[in-house]
Amino acid sequence: MLDLGRQYRPIRGELLAALEQVLDNRQFVLGAAVAAFENAAAEQLGVAHAIGCASGTDALWLALASAGIGRGMGVVTTPFSFFASVSAILRAGATPVLADIEPATFNLDPATVEFVLDKPGRIPVRAILPVHLYGQCADWDAFTRLARERGLMLIEDAAQAWGAEWNGVHAGALGDAAAFSFYPTKNLSAAGDAGLVTTNDSAVAERVRTLRQHGMRRRYHHDELGWNARMDGFQGAILSVKLKYVEGWNQARRAVAARYDALFRAAGLAESGPYPDRGVVLPREVSGSRHAWHQYVIRTARRDVLREFLNARGVGSEIYYPIPLHMQEALRSLGYREGDFPEAERAAREVLALPMFPELRDDEQRRVVAAIAEFLS
Ligand SMILES: Cc1ncc(COP(=O)(O)O)c(C=O)c1O
Repeated sequence: MLDLGRQYRPIRGELLAALEQVLDNRQFVLGAAVAAFENAAAEQLGVAHAIGCASGTDALWLALASAGIGRGMGVVTTPFSFFASVSAILRAGATPVLADIEPATFNLDPATVEFVLDKPGRIPVRAILPVHLYGQCADWDAFTRLARERGLMLIEDAAQAWGAEWNGVHAGALGDAAAFSFYPTKNLSAAGDAGLVTTNDSAVAERVRTLRQHGMRRRYHHDELGWNARMDGFQGAILSVKLKYVEGWNQARRAVAARYDALFRAAGLAESGPYPDRGVVLPREVSGSRHAWHQYVIRTARRDVLREFLNARGVGSEIYYPIPLHMQEALRSLGYREGDFPEAERAAREVLALPMFPELRDDEQRRVVAAIAEFLS
């Protein structure tokens, strides 16, 4: 699925030098390396503030809490995402309100969000948290309109979307606040856990800085309950090095995606979708959006058998995500049931992520597509 060694080897010397600098100045938690990364990241994204933290999960919680989301408030999000998109809402003290996804992009569907907002008798909703799933922005025109009409905040789960854009604006600069993850598999990745909150709102940024260290503005004066959610100096140093390369890597991902498209079409396997019949539905880039191609995810009817077939031939694949969040044991108390979100449930049965990373070679992609063609024939 992913060979991080191919990314690491050409920049090994630079990474080691950056780590050595942290050892020399011994600023292991926050410090100069993290501050330098925060500044460079904000500049690259075109956003006023970027605040480093310990993980994408912490970034989501910090973004929500700092935007004033808490007890007695609902936050609308998707059931088809990584667990943290929902657990961070609970961690902030708020209530997740789920709405179904669009079958073509797998992103939160603005029309179903509107339907949920109009439902009588639910908790007052204060924010929408769309996830830019697989590296493609959720429909930001529609969500901006909805947020304006209803006086709601927009918080981006941009964990998978470093380098994605909507109408020329970077993911991370679209909403009231956004959260990124630098988990090692992400487009921009740390050597461990790390995350980032971005915002154009200086009050929100100031609160993120406070909450990430136990609500301290002045040393040992705790103004409110925060948490230890700080970024390590080593991670800041590594991320600063990789930040210079990530745009090039994202361009290479685009080329990988285009090559998959061409190979599937040439093999006569591509279907127009949104649901698969006998072939595969290819991912597509929505007009006005720049996909960051964190994942290349196809849809196919006999997904689980295909995956076993690929495994037996040494071809990696992965399912993001096999169980929608409303069907997770830990979220049972939200009161949803199987059948509540048919698009998310169907996607969970049909999606398959294929190997996708910037250094993936043409011959490797041909092997992947040939194996799928063999299975489908
Ligand atoms: C959509 C989404 N949200 C949140 C997270 C949480 O990030 P982290 O693993 O860095 O805590 C991830 C990463 O796994 C993710 O993919």
